[in-house]
Amino acid sequence: MSGDQAAVSHTAQTLPRHVAIIMDGNGRWAESRNKMRIMGHRAGVEAVQGVVEVCAKKKVEVLTLFAFSSENWRRPKKEVGLLMELFMTALGREIKRMHKNNVRLRVIGDIGKFSKPLQDRIKKAEALTHDNTGLTVVVAANYGGRWDVAHAAKKLAARVAAGELSVDDISPELIAQGLSTHGLPEPDLFIRTGGEQRVSNFMLWQLAYTELYFTDTLWPDFDETALDEAFVSFAGRQRRFGRTGKQVVQACQPDSCQHDA
Ligand code: IPE
Ligand code: IPE
Ligand code: MG
Repeated sequence: MSGDQAAVSHTAQTLPRHVAIIMDGNGRWAESRNKMRIMGHRAGVEAVQGVVEVCAKKKVEVLTLFAFSSENWRRPKKEVGLLMELFMTALGREIKRMHKNNVRLRVIGDIGKFSKPLQDRIKKAEALTHDNTGLTVVVAANYGGRWDVAHAAKKLAARVAAGELSVDDISPELIAQGLSTHGLPEPDLFIRTGGEQRVSNFMLWQLAYTELYFTDTLWPDFDETALDEAFVSFAGRQRRFGRTGKQVVQACQPDSCQHDA
């Protein structure tokens, strides 16, 4: 097999196990149509439905969606209030469909800052879908990557203070276990819609070796074709995890393929 063929055989199988998306551009989508920004967020919920369906169909294991950042409280009160209402109604409506489709919902972020009814609805939705075995949808709400790491650090510090753990035991693996995403594979593919090329405090630890994909498409316009384009881009990447390209190709010859991500 030539080097090129080997590279193709290595990449052809590569559908991401975990896709993490910054769903950006709802406001601009609405503004360009002379509509209120909330109309863009509503259209964004419809795009979520489509992407959840496609990911479930393609057997992606985990789909993480950034819905509200810890910095989004800085928006006008009215927009924040309408977003909270939208979460309530969308969660109430969508959870039944998700449950029927064997989807498991997990919410990450500091949800203690949300209203009590919204917190209850989140907990009920997680409990209802807890044993589902299909796609896991992780919604990041009042989430910040710095919060996530600080929260993990606090838990470890408490264990050290209680004498259960020594400072020398603290390792990247222990920190990862304390993150909100514990138990999930790390994201393979990160997608940001809306044209900005930044991570905006999303999964700072978890994205260490994630493939990054940016598109100008605004989130409400992000459909199956757009998702397929991201998957094609991902399939063409060579993930080296610090090794040389030659090592990666050799390790993935059919008789000696090893994955130790
Ligand atoms: C993303 O869309 C949704 C949330 C942050 C809740 P935006 O509302 O940020 O849309 P733009 O970036 O203003 O177009
Ligand atoms: C990131 O988008 C947060 C979400 C999509 C939930 P923002 O629109 O808040 O990001 P910035 O402020 O442009 O970086
Ligand atoms: Mg934005």
